Amino acid sequence: TKKMILDLDTGVDDALALALAVEDPRIDLIGIVSSYGNTLVETAGQNSLNLLHLLGADDVPVYLGESHSSTTTHFDVMPISMAIHGDNGVGNIELPQAPRKIESISGVQFLIDAAHQYGDDLIYLPTGPLTNLAAAIKQDPEVAQLIGQTTLMGGALTVPGNVTPFTEANIHQDPEAADFVFTHQKNLTMVGLDVTLRTLLTKNHTQAWRALDTLAGRTYADVMDYYINAYDTLDIDHRGAALHDPLAVAVAIDPDYVTTINLNTRVTYDKQSGDYGRTIGDSARLLDATTTKIAVNVDTERFVRDFQEFM
Ligand code: BDR
Ligand code: CA
Repeated sequence: TKKMILDLDTGVDDALALALAVEDPRIDLIGIVSSYGNTLVETAGQNSLNLLHLLGADDVPVYLGESHSSTTTHFDVMPISMAIHGDNGVGNIELPQAPRKIESISGVQFLIDAAHQYGDDLIYLPTGPLTNLAAAIKQDPEVAQLIGQTTLMGGALTVPGNVTPFTEANIHQDPEAADFVFTHQKNLTMVGLDVTLRTLLTKNHTQAWRALDTLAGRTYADVMDYYINAYDTLDIDHRGAALHDPLAVAVAIDPDYVTTINLNTRVTYDKQSGDYGRTIGDSARLLDATTTKIAVNVDTERFVRDFQEFM
């Protein structure tokens, strides 16, 4: 079985990605690297610990990654993130406290070590900014060739962004790091808004989780309902809330959920350009060979059905 590392800014949909990775027997979840984004990195790490505890997975270690982008010295959570994910990242639901702590070695070091140890068998899966992966490659350039597969949630190629007309939230946090990853990391698959906005979870689904009458089912339903309500009141989507991060996990395990195109891709990071943080085909490398894939279509029905049933 392949080893998977999740890089999460935990976050409601990150919490769903974590549950999917814990439950799926086709992969072995070997660790969580925490990121900033939906919350501060420390909060994201503690949320991951608490969620693993809730899911009976206290054996999966959690590491802290970078606390801010590579070009800033400080990170504040955006008000819109708090509105969507709650002040604590998990819909203002108080999770049962995990009995253990964050690991003492850094998330970036853990990733570098795992890349050397597992190589082709390693799947790296960021569902937040790409700061940690870029930092690992900068520290040890072999990492970009060693990791077997990287599947990320982020970006928007064929649809508008969700922070600006061009920019998706995870890319927006650190476009420089994202561009570095897109131009260095082999076997990269982008699962962006192009596909994730077509996979929506509704309260019919969370009601079914609640009906399981387990603590995990009830808690996840409460966390998810906060996010569904936010989508509704903020006019993002009235039909349900996007399964951004869990779709990336599903695609890493079963690529047939999506259709991809091969495209050498870049991220614009010139602040003056007006399309800051845009994921776009690299005109200089359009004819060059590539191992970068961009998901452009998704089997919505199959994924949403499978996702609702896994819990
Ligand atoms: C992405 O941004 C974060 O808010 C979500 O967790 C997801 O990873 C969607 O743009
Ligand atoms: Ca996320």
